[in-house]
Amino acid sequence: MIHECFEINGQKFTNRVVLQPMEGCDCNEDGSPSELTVKKYVSAAKSGAGMIWMEATAVCPEGRTNRRQMMLTRENLPIFRELVGELRRIAKEECGNEPVLILQLTHSGRQSISPMIAYRHPIYEERRPVTDANIVTDEYLDTLPQKYAESALLAVEAGFDGVDVKSCHGYLFQELLSAFTREGRYGGSFENRTRLYLDCFRAVRDAIPRHILLTTRWSVSDMVPKPYGFGTTEENELDLTEPDRLLDLLVAEGLQMLNVTVGNPYYNPHVNRPYRKGGYEAPEAPSAGLARFEVIERHLKERHPSLPVVGSGLSYYRQDLMEQAERQLAEGICDFVGFGRMWLAYPEFYKDFREGRFETKKCCLACSKCTALMRAGQVSGCAVFNEYYRNLYKTILL
Ligand SMILES: Cc1cc2nc3c(=O)[nH]c(=O)nc-3n(C[C@H](O)[C@H](O)[C@H](O)COP(=O)(O)O)c2cc1C
Ligand code: SF4
Repeated sequence: MIHECFEINGQKFTNRVVLQPMEGCDCNEDGSPSELTVKKYVSAAKSGAGMIWMEATAVCPEGRTNRRQMMLTRENLPIFRELVGELRRIAKEECGNEPVLILQLTHSGRQSISPMIAYRHPIYEERRPVTDANIVTDEYLDTLPQKYAESALLAVEAGFDGVDVKSCHGYLFQELLSAFTREGRYGGSFENRTRLYLDCFRAVRDAIPRHILLTTRWSVSDMVPKPYGFGTTEENELDLTEPDRLLDLLVAEGLQMLNVTVGNPYYNPHVNRPYRKGGYEAPEAPSAGLARFEVIERHLKERHPSLPVVGSGLSYYRQDLMEQAERQLAEGICDFVGFGRMWLAYPEFYKDFREGRFETKKCCLACSKCTALMRAGQVSGCAVFNEYYRNLYKTILL
């Protein structure tokens, strides 16, 4: 199944493999891709994957996590256009493949250089203290739909096939989803908490041409106890009541594909990216995290059978990864299989699999060193199999 084609809204996918967004924190100060960024995406283009989901790209300077986060502007548009063209050329030349290219639009909210928070959060603030002055005003939030629409149009001009209105991993939209304690138009009721996400989604939808894919990468649950998390109970169990309501609205508003993710990697990375080795001992076995992804994806597929779903969290499976991916597709849990850490570790894994040359020893170890580099404020990549990042890791973190 993994090699089978797929089509959404006239966009053709040559197979079901998705290279998930993996932020490298390696762009130039103006947000354009650096030599390191280009290198990473060239390796993605050579992978044969049917879809390349480009990393978190800020819609405005104040919404960047750091000064090396990707950001598409009118000024650097020609650089992005050239990169997109180059990736298409390389993919065609190396694999006879035409990958669908998605750009992920984001506002980093609490993780911005100067934190822009939705509300005071006792759990997240243990890690990064803030004050009331960091709470974003309703007036500021009102300006964001326009910014998202402008960025989406730039993505279209750059040549991307789809735009992701991202709401995940604790960034601004996602934090607003659990803003039970916030006052005003963006807090309290379900309608208020989902307002900004939906307004930006509609603004992008109305701005882009019809043939461009409208998608979202969404943390269906934060796995943080209510009232400080979305899609959970007070006991921190998964509760899909509100996520179901929200997804119904997104579908009614024109969502064409959903990339499922879970958790907030700044608080509970074991949820988002089950690991063998990490910065702390996870309170659950990795198998629990892997099972949660499947429970959620299966549930959403049953509720919206015709909505194409990208599954996540597969890299932990290591040598069994392709078998697990095939199983998930066969069982209808998802329509595409997304690979994050695996493509950093072994960018040509899919091509090798397809050609019967898959090498277990090159597979991601789920060791969290790439995340550790990022958290240390460095550029991020595979610190095990890529010499550049390995040396960086040794110098900075050992
Ligand atoms: C270094 C690093 C950077 C990431 N950057 C992004 C990002 O820009 N956007 C995003 O939605 N997810 C990002 N993620 C999450 C991954 O896309 C993916 O969901 C996660 O690694 C779990 O999938 P895996 O098991 O295949 O690695 C990142 C993860 C890591 C480890
Ligand atoms: S550093 Fe490499 S091997 Fe370790 S988790 Fe990241 S991608 Fe996988």
